[in-house]
Amino acid sequence: MKSNMKHCIIYLVFLSPFYLRAQSSVEFKFNPETDTTTINKNIYGHFAEHLGHCIYGGFYVGDTNKSIPNTAGVRNDVIAALKALKIPVLRWPGGCFADTYHWKDGVGPKDKRPSIVNKWWGGVLEDNSFGTDNFLNMCELLGAEPYLSGNVGSGTVQELADWVQYTNFEGKSPMSDLRTSNGREHPWKVKYWGIGNEAWGCGGNMRPEYYADIFRKYTTFMGNGIFKIASGANSSDYAWTETLMKNIPSNMIEGIGVHHYSVIDWNHKSSATAFSTKEYFLTMKQAWKMEELVTRHAAIMDKYDPKKKVAMVVDEWGGWYDVEPGTNPGFLFQQNTMRDAMIAGVTLNIFNSHCDRVRMANLAQTINVLQAVILTSGSKIILTPTYHVMEMYNVHQDAVMLPLVLKSADYTMDNDKLPALSVSASRKNGVVHISLVNIDPEQAQDVKLTLGKVPFSSVSGRILVSGKLQDYNSVENPSLIKPAAFNGAKISGGTISLRMPPASVIVLELK
Ligand code: AHR
Repeated sequence: MKSNMKHCIIYLVFLSPFYLRAQSSVEFKFNPETDTTTINKNIYGHFAEHLGHCIYGGFYVGDTNKSIPNTAGVRNDVIAALKALKIPVLRWPGGCFADTYHWKDGVGPKDKRPSIVNKWWGGVLEDNSFGTDNFLNMCELLGAEPYLSGNVGSGTVQELADWVQYTNFEGKSPMSDLRTSNGREHPWKVKYWGIGNEAWGCGGNMRPEYYADIFRKYTTFMGNGIFKIASGANSSDYAWTETLMKNIPSNMIEGIGVHHYSVIDWNHKSSATAFSTKEYFLTMKQAWKMEELVTRHAAIMDKYDPKKKVAMVVDEWGGWYDVEPGTNPGFLFQQNTMRDAMIAGVTLNIFNSHCDRVRMANLAQTINVLQAVILTSGSKIILTPTYHVMEMYNVHQDAVMLPLVLKSADYTMDNDKLPALSVSASRKNGVVHISLVNIDPEQAQDVKLTLGKVPFSSVSGRILVSGKLQDYNSVENPSLIKPAAFNGAKISGGTISLRMPPASVIVLELK
């Protein structure tokens, strides 16, 4: 069926007076004088690990590949898709891989680079053909800031200090000479540096007191002028954040991480595509948990850093399911459905609304791994529903966040409930964008937005919706789910009303 016709049918069904629907309202508190908190564009960041086919076969197809159009081995279709997304920052090379990675293995002539075993991800051979120069040159092509995760677990202080010198040192030095001999004279000037990854787990099973000291030691030798991000808490481990904030002086740290995956249960993750509505509810419960996590981690940070100098960096987030049947369990390859679009919409609204503290986030992971925005299949790529949400929401990048009060209907399951509606809003150059998600897969939402006194005369919008929650884009049907124009919002005086279909994402533009 043609996609326009499909959208018409979906609208007709949900506009029917007999269809189940609930009421929600949003009240805006516009105040151009006090609305000054900017949604840092880095909230829309991504993460690429040496894991499965994220780098090899995802971004990188090899310098000599003639069958897939590429620039220095990086797929041109991927570059174009990520540029359209306005990808602001990209974290690399891990993840757990980062604490096994010795960067010097990945620079210089490729035939001289040693191989290692990728111990965390499938035990496959890593030939180091994609290394620092490849990654940083690729970031330049993408127009994205690199975020390098240093090896603290199995590396040395000297090794990490040398990496900073290799990428950033302007004058003559052993590492800048090495860089020049590898063909790059001018430094890339990498700003964002992670001091290890998941230090509480695959990064070394450290206790927070010990890691705080390790952080202080490593950063002492990395030098100034860079943005140093501490390996942060596992989801609701608030004691981790408290201990780091207490033991690391705020002049030594610029950011502190948090990792949270929307996983139902580590022993029962559910199929990425064949999931039940109960499993969907439980996944959305984990997605909504991000609200509590950022609120509570932020409250701890406020105690030690009331001026909010230190950024919260949610440098891993997203849905995590069973791998696709028949694929390597160590490669974490999963399809991406409307459920993922719901996770992305809700989570990004949470980050936007907490942008006073959350100033970077990195979706895990960009290509072919976990909640990917791109899946590759030979010479083809598929843009997932998550890609489309990230693209629709990129209007919020570096815009001023607009505070609002949401009264949402409930989405209920058995004896449990979640807010059905999620919203955030921003203003840039006089244009307001409001992103709304109705996570309820059965009930439409009649939403009333009260704008107050600010005069807007026109409203337009885009919608992402599909017939079923379990729908996904595939090689056979790559455009089953894609944004369409939404003309269902009516503006009258200071009020906008619209009906949101079940399981839909809408971004409105007000002028
Ligand atoms: O994103 C996959 C893995 O999840 C990362 O390597 C690790 O940091 C986390 O546990």
